[in-house]
Amino acid sequence: MCGIVGYAGKNRAVPYLLEGLEKLEYRGYDSAGVAVAEGNTLRVTKTRGRISNLASLIAAEHQSPATVGIGHTRWATHGKPNDVNAHPHQSQSGRFCVVHNGIIENYLQLKAQLQSEGYVFVSETDTEVIAHLLDKTWDGDFVSTVRKTAALLEGAYAICVLCSDCPDQIVCTRWGSPLVLGVCGEGTFIGSDVTAILRHTNEIYYLDGHETALVDAKGATFFDKDGAAIEKQPKTIEWNLSAAQKGGYEHFMLKEIMEQPRAIADTVSPRITADKTIAFEDFHLSDDEIRRLRRVTIVACGSAYHAGAVGKYVIEKLARLPVEIDIASEFRYRAPVLAPDTLVIVISQSGETADTLAALRLANEQGCKTLCIVNVVSSSIANEGGSVIYTHAGPEIAVATTKAYAAQVAVLYLLAGYLADKRGLLSKAQLASYTDDLLALPDLIQKTLDDCNAQIKAFAQMFIPLEHAYFIGRNLDYACAMEASLKLKEISYIHSEAYAAGELKHGTISLIEKGTLVVALAAYSDVFQKTMSNIKEVKARGARVLAVSTERHMDAMGEVDYKVLIPDANPLFSVSLEVVPMQLLGYYTARARGCDIDKPRNLAKSVTVE
Ligand code: F6R
Repeated sequence: MCGIVGYAGKNRAVPYLLEGLEKLEYRGYDSAGVAVAEGNTLRVTKTRGRISNLASLIAAEHQSPATVGIGHTRWATHGKPNDVNAHPHQSQSGRFCVVHNGIIENYLQLKAQLQSEGYVFVSETDTEVIAHLLDKTWDGDFVSTVRKTAALLEGAYAICVLCSDCPDQIVCTRWGSPLVLGVCGEGTFIGSDVTAILRHTNEIYYLDGHETALVDAKGATFFDKDGAAIEKQPKTIEWNLSAAQKGGYEHFMLKEIMEQPRAIADTVSPRITADKTIAFEDFHLSDDEIRRLRRVTIVACGSAYHAGAVGKYVIEKLARLPVEIDIASEFRYRAPVLAPDTLVIVISQSGETADTLAALRLANEQGCKTLCIVNVVSSSIANEGGSVIYTHAGPEIAVATTKAYAAQVAVLYLLAGYLADKRGLLSKAQLASYTDDLLALPDLIQKTLDDCNAQIKAFAQMFIPLEHAYFIGRNLDYACAMEASLKLKEISYIHSEAYAAGELKHGTISLIEKGTLVVALAAYSDVFQKTMSNIKEVKARGARVLAVSTERHMDAMGEVDYKVLIPDANPLFSVSLEVVPMQLLGYYTARARGCDIDKPRNLAKSVTVE
């Protein structure tokens, strides 16, 4: 989730590049850089921090007259946010500079191969392999070299390349990550989204997957996936800048809900190896230490805690380790009993939540093994954890978390499979089938989004007048109920409670009366029948029930008032699908009630864009 810009025109490139980068800064900004073609020399300027840092550095160092250049604002995924890891990256010979969005899944293999051939790497990024591969595949033709290089990459990428032999040109290509172009009197503009270009033109060319564009001051020549020149027609964009930053969605929250398939794919696929096992880049426990673990404690706040609740069920079920979950603000102020054979897992999107950080420090002090699941690279929590697994959700701007929560849950599925494997509890075939099911999740989430969106928008209408709602479920469905309830209350301000369905009868059922709305989460097959009996209990008291379950249970859902069906998946992963209609329910209810979704009452984690 970084930002790319490019310009080739009749004016100085740097001001355009900086302006485009500022427009993209909302996508993440731990470092930024530009490269310009000065005659046959490529000049790179890059630094840690915001675009304003880069602008000051450029102002102090040079007023480059170059009219062709590329730029990048980074949100770190591989390697710390520092000057060296910032883009652009230059090839060993200095002939090429590249900026890149996305994740190269086979970069470790490519890097090892290049190193064995004498290429020296200076950064920790996956992008640097692209720069050196360009050198290696250079055949004297700029477009052909970029196409040959791209063909070696697995994963997602949008890349923009400068070549010192062709200083008037830029070549760009993409797969999985977007890239757009605009041509106007000032020159030709490239952006990873339209916000970088919109000020100059609203006639936008969308590059399709595996297409390539050769850009100069006069315009762009497009090539299809086989390298044949093609004509493309621009699309007219009617959005203003603010709408464009939200990808045309009304709010960041909806945009981020829709980004979940990509967030899960980016988080999961780099960790699944070609032989269908699970591997983490920064997990420092030896196989022997994993076998000697006696206990797992998961500590987090809010939605991250709810993700931890999913982790508890899945790790216990697969890895047969006792798992305790704790709210960080509770954990840190009691005297938790921890031991060196306890693995303490700390989960945080921001990596800066004070209670979670304090809990991590406590666990570190007590000599536990610690593992952090974090979205923001090099955040305080990531820096202090014994091991780190990053969620690759990209920057999350909405106050109510959605895609980061989904990515945390995905990491916990990976971790459960990994621990089970190391503890000898999964056969090779079982692990392969588990990883296949994990890889199938992004498509199933996309299907859930497609199937549920309109239906949930309609159901949200009946939540408008509510003062209270109940979310019930058992086991994994209960973990999802906690998150569903928080999503509703935090942005639509309807009081709601999540209850373990089997616990209702021990008192709280007295609050269920005629007309009370109960959302029953019943996707997890292991407890489906039990949850159905709880639905009967609340129905007997006059509740209206909206039930969420999977297609395989459709005929057994009984007399519920409203049904939401999600696709069949590996039952252990049902939460990732079931939570989608619940996120949409929170969002559409808040919208229908006229709540300010971009600036809700709880601004605790707010990173709003002006
Ligand atoms: C709810 C939400 C919060 C966060 C919590 C922890 O939508 O976003 O409950 O999950 O504040 O924040 P992180 O994950 O940054 O530690």
